Amino acid sequence: MCGIVGYVGERNSLDVLMGGLRRLEYRGYDSAGVAVVDDEGDLEFAKRAGKLQVLADELGRHPIHRGGTGIGHTRWATHGGPTDRNAHPHLADDDKLALIHNGIIENFSELKEELLADGAEFLSETDTEVAAVLLGREYRATGDLREAFRRTVRRLEGAFTLLAVHKDEPGVVVGARRNSPLVIGLGDGENFLGSDVAAFVEFTKRAVAIGQDQIVAITAGEVTVTDFDGNAVEVEPFDVAWDASAAEKGGWSSFMAKEVAEQPDAVANTIRGRIVDGVVSIPELDQLGDDALRSIRRITVVACGTAAYAGMVSKYAIEQWARIPVEVELSHEFRYREPVIDDGTLVVSISQSGETMDTLMAVKYAREQGAKAISVCNTQGATIPRESDAAVYTHAGPEVAVASTKAFVAQITALYLFGLHLARVRGTLSEEELAAQVAELQAIPEKITTVLEQGERVGELAHWMSDTRSVLFLGRHVGYPIALEGALKLKELAYIHAEGFAAGELKHGPIALIEPGQPVFVVVPSPRGSATLHPKVVSNIQEIRARGARVIAIAEAGDAAVLPFADEVIRIPLAGPLFEPLLAVVPLQIFAMELSQAKGLDVDQPRNLAKSVTVE
Ligand code: AGP
Repeated sequence: MCGIVGYVGERNSLDVLMGGLRRLEYRGYDSAGVAVVDDEGDLEFAKRAGKLQVLADELGRHPIHRGGTGIGHTRWATHGGPTDRNAHPHLADDDKLALIHNGIIENFSELKEELLADGAEFLSETDTEVAAVLLGREYRATGDLREAFRRTVRRLEGAFTLLAVHKDEPGVVVGARRNSPLVIGLGDGENFLGSDVAAFVEFTKRAVAIGQDQIVAITAGEVTVTDFDGNAVEVEPFDVAWDASAAEKGGWSSFMAKEVAEQPDAVANTIRGRIVDGVVSIPELDQLGDDALRSIRRITVVACGTAAYAGMVSKYAIEQWARIPVEVELSHEFRYREPVIDDGTLVVSISQSGETMDTLMAVKYAREQGAKAISVCNTQGATIPRESDAAVYTHAGPEVAVASTKAFVAQITALYLFGLHLARVRGTLSEEELAAQVAELQAIPEKITTVLEQGERVGELAHWMSDTRSVLFLGRHVGYPIALEGALKLKELAYIHAEGFAAGELKHGPIALIEPGQPVFVVVPSPRGSATLHPKVVSNIQEIRARGARVIAIAEAGDAAVLPFADEVIRIPLAGPLFEPLLAVVPLQIFAMELSQAKGLDVDQPRNLAKSVTVE
């Protein structure tokens, strides 16, 4: 949500900004803009509603000059519609300064009243322009961009990343962050700022994540980080683990197609280094200490969307293996009640981006109440892992498509490793039992490859069903969150009504939806692994089939019981019952992607969605 890029150096900043904004497109946006200051101190800007190409076309028609200092922004509208006028940058101080913003300034109304009373004029409906006008006023009072910026951010409440440039101080970009992301890219004779490292990884892999309530000023040769009062802050640079090509499509029709295909690697890379001689050990948990892991009485998982479904899958495994009660909560529900948390509670957050605002706030709240927090995250240097007691990174590589796929399987993998680590430390599984589960996990990458080989068939199915208006998904046990995830994928990618249900719930209401021709995907548990549940789900299939449903079963290879009742059967390889979700989700992802393509929709950037939801 909102992409931010800043640059100071010898290059043409406009090229750096437009390239960075393209790499941040996946975050979701509906308008874009840039402001550039040249060495003579001329500030020029351009901004347009719509995709980046609209801005690029505008810059083609009305070029702006080529300075070495600039800021660029993609906006996902919150306050005020997606119009040219509301697009960032916002200008102030007689158009001498430009400011961009990600987040929501919660006290903007009261600040606006104050500024209006002072004679200020506003051109947009945004909260951001208030920060720009305030900064202009402070600059006129101080004549010093850094001091004016500090004074400004101290007045703001809410969540924000801000960047600003001023024509009277060419060669400087100032930035600040509170609850929204901002990362510095350290170059040689040039420096960068970005919402995430994708903005500048093409130029440098050396980065610094700016902490909460900190301000940064970059010039070509210097980076200074302070708190909001101007006190110097120590920073810890890190090396970005992936290069620019990892975030390119590499010949695939979409980022999503590439990321679906990368799932065997996402799982293998997440396992790598964490199973040594058949024993699971997560070194990142050492800082908590085994005693702390032994004394946990309850685990609360907080996450949103697909990440929450990964949490739901992991609940079955962690409870079974480590015998600790696990509850899974949507972060936004968790933080607005009074959850029971104490020092026996371990909060596990799951987030691909590590920037989801509700999840971040849930983690902060839990820690304030005395809980320890572990972050399962895919993005190095992101805010949530930094705000947690320990971080278990998934190694899925950059996920660019808005719909989460490889991050989901990597999250389940990391959580399963965590569950096995806990079981070992707490002595709840024997060595043989641990070894058997480890072997199952290690076999998953190859089994996902086998499922991917059926992609063409699933694609054909999606193309036949391209005018379907509603699809239902049923699952039981670990298949239930997979049914929810299948429905979510279809909603977000193909804009089709879709619902996921626990199969046991069918007769308590959802069966009323079944009418002749209604497509229903059923995630069928293994007849070997779930001898009690398998016949129950087969009965559910018979019940809906008797009412005319068109059944597409996702069933284990060799499961003959589904054949007489299913219209289509998609086979997944044999795996332990807890491991089936890592296989069964793949055809559902492909189905949604192909249906989206069949309808001519934007697979990577579905309408109205942002990759990381950095506002509430
Ligand atoms: C998944 O396809 C979604 N686009 C969405 O539900 C996502 O999983 C959710 O917003 C959480 O994001 P996070 O993992 O970055 O926190």
